[in-house]
Amino acid sequence: MKVRLKDIAKAAGVSPTTVSLVLNNRPVRVSDNTRKNILKLSKELNYIPNQQARSLAKNQTNMIGLIVPNIENPFFASIATSIESLLTEYNYITIIMNSNDSHHSEKKMLEKMTALNVDGLIIVYSNEFFFTHSVDYIQKKKRAIPTILLDRYIEDVESPQVYYNNELSGYITTKFLISIGHQNIGMLGANETLINSRHRYKGYKKALKEHNIAINEDWYVETAITFEDGYNKADQILRHGEVTSVICGNDLSALGFMRRAEEIGCRIPDDISVVGHDNIELNRYSSKPLTSIEQNPRKLAEYAVNKLINQIEHKSTNHSFYSDIILEPNLVIGKTTKRL
Ligand code: RIB
Repeated sequence: MKVRLKDIAKAAGVSPTTVSLVLNNRPVRVSDNTRKNILKLSKELNYIPNQQARSLAKNQTNMIGLIVPNIENPFFASIATSIESLLTEYNYITIIMNSNDSHHSEKKMLEKMTALNVDGLIIVYSNEFFFTHSVDYIQKKKRAIPTILLDRYIEDVESPQVYYNNELSGYITTKFLISIGHQNIGMLGANETLINSRHRYKGYKKALKEHNIAINEDWYVETAITFEDGYNKADQILRHGEVTSVICGNDLSALGFMRRAEEIGCRIPDDISVVGHDNIELNRYSSKPLTSIEQNPRKLAEYAVNKLINQIEHKSTNHSFYSDIILEPNLVIGKTTKRL
């Protein structure tokens, strides 16, 4: 049978209020012996506080909802584990849901999280959300629960966003390739499925323009950010023998591309240089680590969690809460790029 607060009180010969104050480490006038006896009884009787009762009393559930678009992607798996471990340190429970990049699913999940009365939300919105709503709608959408939008972004949104500057990612990647002699730079881009790819593409075009390098649309191939599509679309880049390097939407599509390239005898980086995005942990242990843009999941998680908890626990001003945090990416040089 479930042990209740009043059972502890009866066994200790004190009121339920006294037991609650002692167990919540709140000020109460009891002797040390009584305090120790209450703690000992609650342990011996395996007393587990009623979370719902505590939530009602405190008007706080100590639960945070987290929605990611693809938990199988190592980048998001790292984000979820980082957020969960950080929130545990703050004594919050993380409810993790995976939207599979479906806006319909994430709407249902947001309804469930609201019904659970979570104290806050961290959302990596599905790409479908960005591609099925107007910019005006996205920018003006307000949320009743303190919410942080993570990783995927557009400018000037009501809720605070924490993300890496993706236009800068595309820019520094392209400038790097130009600096090692590449002029014919292809792109396995995801401009129709990944909002961040559009930011990166702007940086790619900016760097080419700065160096008076013409953009060849034939060298842009729309590719989903998956191993499979990187593999399946590779030939559409590789058939252009003049292309000496390719920037991929993320590490997964870059690895798929490399698999196909090597399958048809195209050597990486001797015949074509390849750059990924995210610098997932796999790269650290690969025999041929990708040159890739680092987006540190732990750093994203720390900024998002600290910002959210400060708001929930009223330690932040509205100005500090509603300001975006924009992180600077850095290019990690691996073994998939070479000077011409
Ligand atoms: O690998 C997943 C990609 O989508 C990453 O580049 C990240 O920015 C996410 O939005």
